[in-house]
Amino acid sequence: MPITPEQYARLRDTIRERFGIYYDDTKQFLLQSRLQTRLIKCRVADFDEYYRYLTISADREAEWDELASVLSNNETYFFRERAQLDVLASEVVDEAIKSRRRLRIWSAACSTGEEPYTIAMLLLAGGRIAPSEIDIKAGDISPRALEKAKTGFYRELSFRATPPEVMAKNFRPFESGYFISDEIKRMVEFSRVNLLDQRAVAAYGPADAIFCRNVLIYFDKPTQKRVVENFARALRPNGYLFLGHAESIIRLTDLYEPIVTPKAIYYRLRGTDGAR
Ligand SMILES: C[S@@+](CC[C@H](N)C(=O)[O-])C[C@H]1O[C@@H](n2cnc3c(N)ncnc32)[C@H](O)[C@@H]1O
Repeated sequence: MPITPEQYARLRDTIRERFGIYYDDTKQFLLQSRLQTRLIKCRVADFDEYYRYLTISADREAEWDELASVLSNNETYFFRERAQLDVLASEVVDEAIKSRRRLRIWSAACSTGEEPYTIAMLLLAGGRIAPSEIDIKAGDISPRALEKAKTGFYRELSFRATPPEVMAKNFRPFESGYFISDEIKRMVEFSRVNLLDQRAVAAYGPADAIFCRNVLIYFDKPTQKRVVENFARALRPNGYLFLGHAESIIRLTDLYEPIVTPKAIYYRLRGTDGAR
């Protein structure tokens, strides 16, 4: 089904407004082919009818849920960008222990769960803080990714950076993959979230650290700014923000102080009042 430039621009902008995900002109083919699958599933005749289905039909919210799963790139794996995780296990844990409070971590766009489960495995193995003192929340916009995360079943590709001893301790082989242990599964609470939703994001606070890695790259600059400003409302004063290594907010906002070490870059919320 061909798409006119007007039809493409209208759907692209509607999607950007809803999810923040931005398809520039170089990605037109990708978006078009993803939408094409929805046209067929929804049995609509063309992209104009699909736009109406998405915006004014009685089934529009269910269709947005489907789109959230179809449009998101869910690439992830256990122990991704390990150096930042080591900062969490050392500095962030140190501060929580010193101030005698529960450690609250939010994996804000967790995809299929590898990131928050990695955090749970690391903190448990570190043995510095009891599981009852650790609160790990994880969210994503994709219902399908979250369903997979909750099953805790993974295949080989998710383990490309997992040390063998961690694998032996925390996973049980089953048919063509592995189930994560119940002990780790119990430590993570999953829920649906849209990072553009200011109130929903604020409700995750006050967090000691937010992981939002490899997500901002799919947003345009104004949306990136909006999302990291939303995070400032969910972080404790001086709380930590971890982004992907290809993502920088240095020129976007001065709410955060960048911390650059030889192995990792991360951010600390400036000031004393996290609720802005
Ligand atoms: C590439 S994955 C990153 C997973 C993990 N953080 C990592 O670094 O391995 C990007 C995730 O961002 C999610 N995402 C995209 N837009 C979102 C939004 N507006 N709100 C919440 N999650 C979103 C996608 O559904 C996808 O699962």
